This record gives sequence, C-alpha cells and structure tokens, in this order.
Amino acid sequence: MLHPKIRALAEKIRDKDLRKKVIELLENPVFEVDGKVYSGLSLDVSPAGLSHHHCYPGGYVEHIISTANLASALCKSVEKVYRGKVNRDLVIAGVLLHDLFKPLTYSVNQNGSYSTTGLADYMDHLSIAIAELVRRGFPLELIHVVSAHHGEYGPIRPHTIEALICHLADLMDSRLNGEVLNAASYLVRKATGEELSGLTSKEAFEIIHSKAVEGWEGVAKTVEKIKKRKASRKI
Ligand SMILES: [Fe+2]
Ligand SMILES: [Fe+2]
Repeated sequence: MLHPKIRALAEKIRDKDLRKKVIELLENPVFEVDGKVYSGLSLDVSPAGLSHHHCYPGGYVEHIISTANLASALCKSVEKVYRGKVNRDLVIAGVLLHDLFKPLTYSVNQNGSYSTTGLADYMDHLSIAIAELVRRGFPLELIHVVSAHHGEYGPIRPHTIEALICHLADLMDSRLNGEVLNAASYLVRKATGEELSGLTSKEAFEIIHSKAVEGWEGVAKTVEKIKKRKASRKI
C-alpha cells in the first residue's frame, strides 16, 4: 500500500502515461540484477539517510513530502516572479523518484540501528534509479532530473530548470533536516551531558523550540518528556 501522501503527490502528475508509470514504480520499487530480485525497507518505515539527514523511521516519507513542498514553492517563484516556464510533471515525478532506491540499500539491525545491504556494496541509489528508469522506458528528461539531483557531486549537473529545481529542493530539505538534528543533539548534550539516540526531526524541532522559550531548563524538561514517550511506546 502506497503512503497516502505519496499517492496524492503522484496524482498531481497531469500526463496520464507518466502518472501511471510513476505510480507503478512507487508501488513496486524492486530491482533485479544477475537474476536476483532486491527489495529493501518499505518506503513508509525507511529513513532517507543513515547519518546526515532523515536518519530515523519515517524519514524517507518526510523527505519526499518536504522536498515536494519546497520544489512547488520554487516552481511558483520561477513562474510568477521570473515568468519562466516549468514542466511541473517532471518536477513532481523527479522529486518522487529521486531517492526511491535508497530504502533498497538499507537494512535494520535488531537494536533498531541501520546498516547497508549487500546490493549497496556494489551500487548506490542513484545508479540503481537510472538503470531502473531506463529499463522501464521513462522519458529522457525525467531520467536527467533524477541523475542530476546530487548537483555538482553527481554524475551530471542540472541542465534543465526542472532538474535544477529538484536538486535545490532536495539540497534545501536535507540541509534543513540535518542542521536541525545536529543542533538538537548539541543542545541535548549541553543540557544533560547525554546523547539521545534515534532523534526524529519532530523531536529535534521540539528541543530547539524549548531552548528558545525556556532556555537550558526547557531543553532538559523536553528531553525527559521525549524519553518517557519513547519508553511508553516500547511497552
Ligand atoms: Fe540522492
Ligand atoms: Fe533526497
């Protein structure tokens, strides 16, 4: 079952054929190589990174939704302020598919921490995505959006407005999330002398807000609250 928010985003793709292809792939993001079929964590529970950003359960869906929001704001700016033309279908499809194969490269350990799968020893999520998009006959313009999403650190820089928007939105969201997680971890360490592992971005924002409103005492109180919540979830 596809996450309802992910499905709602895919439904915004106007081109019928592209929409159908994107939904088919989202519903079954497996990868076959050497006669072996790889399927990783489900999109709903997967993180979208292992250390820098969205590195907690559900991080993948959060990253896609937030990147889509940011990309939509960029599209609006290009169209309304700069009077530029954007193919929004390509932007939405690009955002939805850019990290689709990350969950395939992650596995969960017994203690809830993450590792990488055997497939990840040989291929990264970007190469897997390109291979699969080509195999499934996706349009070249969309393949470019996905292959350029790492910007100057990827195999090709963005050469179209749609690719640039996806790259910038992806970068913005991963930085936003990563910086907030880092800041919250720092505040927790300073206020309590402890590490709080597995912090989600919602908890991180809560911690940062408590520092702004109630200072260090507020941070310590929020950490206690988060710990209690986590303990009650385990029962
Ligand atoms: Fe990526
Ligand atoms: Fe991403």
